[in-house]
Amino acid sequence: MKKRILVTGGTGFIGSETVIALIENGYEPVIVDNLCNSKEAVVGRIETITGVRPIFHPVDCCDKAAFRKVFEEEKDLYGVIHFAGLKAVGESVSKPIEYYSNNLVSTLNLLDLMREFDVRNIIFSSSATVYGVPERVPLKETDPVQSATNPYGETKVMIERILEDTHKAWKDLNVVLLRYFNPIGAHPSGLLGEDPNGIPNNLLPYVSQVAIGKLKFLSVYGDDYPTPDGTGIRDYIHVCDLAEGHVAAIRKLADNPGVVVYNLGTGKGTSVLEIVHAFEEANGVKIPYQIEARRAGDVAENYANCDKAFEELGWKARRNVLDACKDAYRFQKMNPNGIQ
Ligand code: NAD
Ligand code: UD1
Repeated sequence: MKKRILVTGGTGFIGSETVIALIENGYEPVIVDNLCNSKEAVVGRIETITGVRPIFHPVDCCDKAAFRKVFEEEKDLYGVIHFAGLKAVGESVSKPIEYYSNNLVSTLNLLDLMREFDVRNIIFSSSATVYGVPERVPLKETDPVQSATNPYGETKVMIERILEDTHKAWKDLNVVLLRYFNPIGAHPSGLLGEDPNGIPNNLLPYVSQVAIGKLKFLSVYGDDYPTPDGTGIRDYIHVCDLAEGHVAAIRKLADNPGVVVYNLGTGKGTSVLEIVHAFEEANGVKIPYQIEARRAGDVAENYANCDKAFEELGWKARRNVLDACKDAYRFQKMNPNGIQ
């Protein structure tokens, strides 16, 4: 029998890609998503790509009664991958109540229902943001978790703690905390990818919209960092590699690992200007840009040491930034107004 995995936030950017990876690896995903930041059309696109229409519940994880019905209906769940959450750093500063409420209540409801229905495995979408301002790079899982500078990041710190505390009281619960670095790219079919509302905050969606002429030029936030070309360095990981990391994490659950933490990145830092040039090279387009002041809250350099994920999960990123730039541009061209 196929292992059944509940995927909260499964129509989102990373969730949808992971649902595809689950189907391709012989699992049966069950999606729960309230569509606050994704479209139901994603379900049909997953079917086009995989030939399998995943089960989909348009349910808010904060609505406990509705969420319980999902658990009542969907028997024999092997585990949960918990992507559902609000994720815009800037918005979280102006809407702290919405962010704390949505991200924490959804998680607490989920854990309570997992206990009630005896579902013992959870994989959580955490973030490199839990490391705060890094004292040194590359970041290792043993580096300290620090209080975040914004409510979004703080929900990740808090949820990691909630999951650790829950495991202490309920030893049968296995928890895999996956700390993502900077997910980019899209499905190579061009059917699924990142579909932000309004003007993108993150680099790759912004560059993609400049490439199709929707935005005039890229603002490069600072060229006076202590890095080789002066622009900020990040660890950009292709979303398909990230999705495969979740499949590897599910396999790990068979060992009853308790609480385990993995960085999911590439282990390689890339600067803003290197991304611009990679995008130009990959797609034969020109990306006009202007150097501007540093963005508040940004750090010079942030990238991962991913040895632990390789040693314990047998996983490492296989794609590079050129692949990601090609896939992101294809998605942008095929969906100039997002997924409809
Ligand atoms: P996304 O917004 O595309 O996906 C999140 C999904 O969760 C959306 O489809 C949204 O509709 C759904 N959702 C939100 N609140 C919900 C609720 N209460 N009930 C049901 N569904 C709900 O974001 P993403 O980029 O795919 O991120 C997925 C997860 O990974 C998030 O938890 C995010 O914080 C985390 N993460 C993302 C990044 C990144 O750069 N994208 C980096 C680190 C961590
Ligand atoms: C941001 C969030 C982080 C979150 C991640 C993924 C902040 C401070 N951090 O990370 O918590 O997990 O997104 O959602 O918001 N850049 C430009 N011009 C742009 C956009 C970005 O030069 O228009 C630069 C930035 O200064 C940075 C790099 O590109 O050096 C990457 O930026 P971004 O994609 O926003 O990711 P992070 O800031 O690393």
